Amino acid sequence: MLRSLVGSEMCIRDSTWCYRIQPSVCQGEYHEIESKLTETAPSSLAAPINPMRWNPPSISEAPADFIDSWATIVTNGSAQQQIGCAIHLYKCNKDMDQRFFSTSDGELLITPQLGGLLIDTELGRLEIHPGEIAVIPRAVKFRVRLTDDTAIGYLCENYGSPFALPERGIVGANGFANDRDFLYPTAYYEDISGQFELIGKFSGRTYRADIDHSPLNVVAWTGNSAPYQYDLSRFNVINSVSYDHCDPSIFTVLTSVSDTAGMANLDFVIFPPRWSVSENTFRPPWYHRNIMSEFMGLIKGQYDAKKEGFEPGGMSLHNSMTPHGPDEATFNTASKKNLEPEYHADTLAFMLESRYPMIPTDFAMNCQERQKDYQQCWQGLKNNFNKGSHHAQ
Ligand code: FE2
Repeated sequence: MLRSLVGSEMCIRDSTWCYRIQPSVCQGEYHEIESKLTETAPSSLAAPINPMRWNPPSISEAPADFIDSWATIVTNGSAQQQIGCAIHLYKCNKDMDQRFFSTSDGELLITPQLGGLLIDTELGRLEIHPGEIAVIPRAVKFRVRLTDDTAIGYLCENYGSPFALPERGIVGANGFANDRDFLYPTAYYEDISGQFELIGKFSGRTYRADIDHSPLNVVAWTGNSAPYQYDLSRFNVINSVSYDHCDPSIFTVLTSVSDTAGMANLDFVIFPPRWSVSENTFRPPWYHRNIMSEFMGLIKGQYDAKKEGFEPGGMSLHNSMTPHGPDEATFNTASKKNLEPEYHADTLAFMLESRYPMIPTDFAMNCQERQKDYQQCWQGLKNNFNKGSHHAQ
């Protein structure tokens, strides 16, 4: 079944009506538990003015299921104010057998980098692998099992308005991410009694409750607030076929709008395999400073603005108005390149960008994988200005 995310639906309140074997009130009382490395905005730490980058962090090798393996990297905004987000990593090697999780703080965007996930939710089953994403609405309960020994990936807990497709403007009816490619879960329910555990995240704290039956007991539902999945290879990439660059907003898959047009609470943007054909152009992404704060991750391959130092599973952060762009090696290669049509194969980077500055956690600031010398990648850029050779075109 297809998930409709078109802008015209924005006027309809996202909601779902469930037909359940027993109502959700049939559960034990929640009691707070330790949340380990999971953090929630607002943060009292500083938003860095300098560019930041990390190698893939080494999260514990100890047995951990999907929920126990989160490590928060950045937060912004406020979960209670329902603005901003948190970005976490997960690395797990165990199924959630009798445990179910939900976060009331936001919807959850799951971006696997390694290993597949079987996600059994109250509203049906999803299965995603690297190159695909899943979105679980706020407070929907789910269980994650693994298709491989280990699963690693990125999570974004979106506190703000639910993700939707961006407006296409003059592009018209089709292009970018198309409605038809968003899939609702496969129908599934459980009518099972036993000893089960509910883990609930609310207002930045984590709680546990007993329940004597599986909470996946929804036998039918109707509505438009439901989990969905999307294969990023279905993204219809649009780009310049003449010269220069379009704004990177052309790579937006999903957007969470804020109260100011053009300044999203959160955009989910990808840099997938694509042709580069522009002429008389420095083809890598330009050097820039901009209002949005940009968190990037790499699912596979090489990102076209960085020759080295940005590894699959790694991350970078360029906060609002922080200058950034191609490293010296990329600049030198691209400046001399013969501009034949070129295919960027086997690569998939993504960006989560937000109008609100992102604040790294203590874990992110102090882990040994943070590249304290990141800014050095630009310091060899020379003054190449040659007044004599410049001429008007
Ligand atoms: Fe940027």
